[in-house]
Amino acid sequence: MSAHSSPKLTGQVKAGGCASKLSPKILDQVLPRIPRVADGNILVGFDTADDAGVYRVSPDLAIVQTVDFFTPVVDDPYTFGAIAAANALSDVYAMGGRPLTALSILAWPASGDLDTLEQILKGGAEKIHEGGCVILGGHSVNDPEIKFGYAITGTVHPDRVKTNTGALPGDVLMFTKKIGTGVISTALKRGIAKDEHVNGAIAQMLTLNRAAAEAIESLEVHGLTDVTGFGLFGHAREMAIGSKITIEIDSSLVRFLDGAIEYAQAGAFSGGLGNNREFVASCLEGSSPFDDLFYDPQTSGGLLIAMPEKDALALERKFPAAYRIGRVLERQTKPLRVL
Ligand code: CO
Ligand code: CO
Repeated sequence: MSAHSSPKLTGQVKAGGCASKLSPKILDQVLPRIPRVADGNILVGFDTADDAGVYRVSPDLAIVQTVDFFTPVVDDPYTFGAIAAANALSDVYAMGGRPLTALSILAWPASGDLDTLEQILKGGAEKIHEGGCVILGGHSVNDPEIKFGYAITGTVHPDRVKTNTGALPGDVLMFTKKIGTGVISTALKRGIAKDEHVNGAIAQMLTLNRAAAEAIESLEVHGLTDVTGFGLFGHAREMAIGSKITIEIDSSLVRFLDGAIEYAQAGAFSGGLGNNREFVASCLEGSSPFDDLFYDPQTSGGLLIAMPEKDALALERKFPAAYRIGRVLERQTKPLRVL
């Protein structure tokens, strides 16, 4: 499958993938004013900026619901569809759930090329099926800017929901992928990305978080989320605020996709990166040479896990792609600290 097709999908949009996400600053001003209903079956609602909502339907069954769609992050339509699916499924894994059903969401120009559309839908469908999930339907609108993704429903036992609000001082902070999809996709959009770097980013974005989620299923997990549009700092911030602790990230431990540091140095920053920086910077103590990359919006990024040391050791043995990037401290002056 080629990383390039004509016309370039990424050339037709303002920002690619999760970088097309609305600034968190905008949502933060409005969401608190939205009325909510008290319902004891809402196990996770939108107050805690978690990955997905969780609703208890019976004492031993809860549904996990999430929706994610975005603009093309790569030029190959099949690959774009598959990445959109992997990214959408991830939020179910990030709650400890198993994906069950999917509804597709499509914004497509009426004059668009039908073969390209077929490839996007095919790539999406095959990745959804790989996640053990079925597509039930969807909705499409006529829009000059292509957008694609899914609403996913999964299931979880109400006692086994994994949120971003339970991290405890003393926990180890683990991560399961490398950082850099945003700068690589921005470099691709600007025509300066090397094929090998794009292919490395694509391989990672196509990797489901399913195996990582299965690896932690039997372990003690206090805090869990996935790193997507708000970047490593942004999602760590949400966990830190939700858990009322401070997360310390050791920048020397974080692994980057090949090419990511180079493109960050070349200033291949999306608008989303700037938004994330603006939103998160006041919550951060310290600085590192890689801060740009920690603000970088990630597409289909890895799981960020706060867990006891013994479970971190077990995870490293069971799932070698997982590695430690920091630790959880009692709340300091700021919710985030970088070394
Ligand atoms: Co998420
Ligand atoms: Co999401």
